[in-house]
Parts: sequence; structure tokens; C-alpha cells
Amino acid sequence: MYRKTYLEIDCEKLKNNIINIKQNYPNYEYYFGVVKANAYGHGSFIINSLIEGGINYLAVSSLEEAIKLREYNKEIPILILEPIHLQYLDKCIQHNITITVSNIEYFNELLTINLPKKLKMHIKLDTGMSRLGLQSSDELDKLINRLPDNPNLFLEGIYTHFATSGINDKHWDNQLEKFKQITKNVDLSTIPIIHMGRSLTLVNHEKIPFCNGIRLGIAMYGMSQSMPIPTGFRAFLRNIRNNHNKKKLNISPTTTTNNLKLETAITLYSEVIELRTIHANDFVGYGALFTAQKDTIIATISIGYADGIPSNIKHVVINNKKYDVVGSTCMDMICVSVDDSVKLYDKVTILGGDKLPIKEVSNECGIRTYSLFTGIRNRVPRVYKNGDDYTEINY
Ligand SMILES: Cc1ncc(COP(=O)(O)O)c(C=O)c1O
Repeated sequence: MYRKTYLEIDCEKLKNNIINIKQNYPNYEYYFGVVKANAYGHGSFIINSLIEGGINYLAVSSLEEAIKLREYNKEIPILILEPIHLQYLDKCIQHNITITVSNIEYFNELLTINLPKKLKMHIKLDTGMSRLGLQSSDELDKLINRLPDNPNLFLEGIYTHFATSGINDKHWDNQLEKFKQITKNVDLSTIPIIHMGRSLTLVNHEKIPFCNGIRLGIAMYGMSQSMPIPTGFRAFLRNIRNNHNKKKLNISPTTTTNNLKLETAITLYSEVIELRTIHANDFVGYGALFTAQKDTIIATISIGYADGIPSNIKHVVINNKKYDVVGSTCMDMICVSVDDSVKLYDKVTILGGDKLPIKEVSNECGIRTYSLFTGIRNRVPRVYKNGDDYTEINY
């Protein structure tokens, strides 16, 4: 690494998150680690820590991502959550990768393909997202009936995806009902893995009795999804309205708090590459958006929106002290108003740590935590901390 801008990932924290999740929710057989988008920005290197913590299946969105994971682990089963082009099935067989079958035309074509070896497949059902999946019991029955036509196709799983938390809306319950309705003629006990939920499902709902798998994304990366219990008169009124709605719509019981002790594992660092003092009426950066009112020390930091930080980032931390970002964020640099304790080449925390928690930064910048995690670009090297060992990887 030449430029000292990097993302540090604490592998122990990720591993402990899984252990903690499994201690709190022990009743699943399959804990899928959703590691698409370069493991939500953490990088494929982390998968072995996730596996040590208890993840026993991985899920990604493309064949590229799945094959990339094989550089780090040859054994763990990997499910691709989107359909892949059928001419690449040999790659799936070669790398022990499970495909998703999400529409009947695709399946019909799949039946005509001469598979040299067993290929594992999971059926995706569309229970409401209107994105991917079979939509009716008719379609599912046809598919199941024709499965024996291709003896090398192995139906290992069936799943769907929830659109909402289902806390104050009926969509979650409706999706569960739709799943039951589509599968009504199928003996689910003959399908080895049934998985419907994601992180929010895990923490907000009772376990769905017939599901033995859960797909973990954001919780695994340290977001507990616990919602603070709101206080005050307006919250009181909102609560009355929500409770009324729950009764009226017959929404199933949900839990908004949990006992998870999860930690985010990433800290984004950069450094001060230049310092200057500007005077009253001097401006900073493109568009002259910040004008100094008095003598001001400006530290230039070597990170910008091309590294994936939010372009409206508000603060950084230097030597344990929080400072304001001033002027507009540039492609590769930001400017910060500092005091004279800041020195050239001081280390700067951009995201993470106790002063810039991911949740707080995402709220402050008005972007989703998912976008913050996955936004950090590959030009930022990843440095993995494993006890006292550090490994740098450039993806
Ligand atoms: C199909 C599917 N399952 C599971 C997940 C994980 O969701 P979460 O990060 O909310 O746990 C995702 C994330 O986008 C997904 O697309």
C-alpha cells in the first residue's frame, strides 16, 4: 500500500457475531452467510472467519462472485441467488455451486441439458417481491413433477425473500401465506433446505416452523437491528395507532428488541496529506461552498467519493477528536477544519470506531447502512486483522 487509505476489518468480530447470533437463535440447521457484493464490502477473505463462527452455506448474486470465493474456500456450499446463463452450468458443477431456478421456462430448458454430474438447485418462489421466482402452485407442481426427467438435477432447497420487516404492515404475513399456498401440494419435508428469512426476519419474528435455514446479511456484519423503544407523547400516540392497526389487520406478533451483542468490524482510515492556514473570506474546494470566517487550519485528507465515501460526509476523527468536513467532497480528497494539534501524516478515521459508528454516519448522511458497507470501492485496499496478524488484500 502506497497511499495510506485503507479499510481495516476485524475478523474476530465477524466470527463472534456469528457465534452470538447462533447462541441467541440456535434452532436452524443452515446459517447462510450472504456474502454478495464482495461480502458487503468486507471482501471475500472474511469467509473463513464466518465459517469458523458457524456459517455453513454461502450465498452470492453471480457466478463471478461464487468462483471468486473458491480462491478462499473450496468446500463450503455456495448458492447463487439469481439465475445464471445455462451455458455456464459446467462451472457450477466444477466448483460445487448451487443454482437458483426461478422460472418455469428456465427450468424447461434446464431439463434438456445433459449434465455430466449432479447439480444442486434451489427453487425460488415469488411471494410478493415481484422480482424473481415461481408465482403459483401450478408452476411449482409442474416443476416438481418433471424433476425426474433430468436425473442429475438435485432439488436441495426452496426459498423466498421477504420485502418488509412485517412489524407494522401485513406484507410479511401475506408473503408467508403465499409461500404456504404455492407449496400446498408439495411435501416440504422431502426438500432438505427451506429458507425464507433474512436478518430482520430472524430478530423480528418467531422461527417459521418448517424453515431450517436463515440467510444472514447485515446482522452478520454487526447491525443488531434492535430498534430503540421510542419515548414521548408522539411515540405514545404512534404506538396506539400501530397496536390498533395490528389488531385490525391481524398482524402476527413481532419483537423489536433483542439480546444480540453484535459489533461492526470495519474501520476506514486515511491520513492527513497536507495542512494550511487560510484566512477570513478564503474559500475551500469546488464551488467555493465553504468560506472561512476567521483564520482556519485546513487538513487535506487522501480520500474522496471515488473511494466510495458519501459525498456529504460530515465528520472525521483525528487523534480521537471529531472534526468537521468543509467544502465539497472531491473525487480523491476531502478538506477538514482542524486545530493545531493535528500534524502532517496523522491517521484519520473516516468511518467506524466508537466515534463514527456506521449507523450514526448512515443517519447523518441520509444513506442506508447497506449502501455504506457496499459502497467502499475496490481501490481501497482491505487490511484484515486476525489477532495480531494483518493481511493486506487488493481486490
Ligand atoms: C435473497 C436475499 N437473501 C438474504 C439477504 C440478506 O439480507 P439482510 O442483509 O437484510 O440480512 C439478501 C440481501 O439483499 C438477499 O437479497
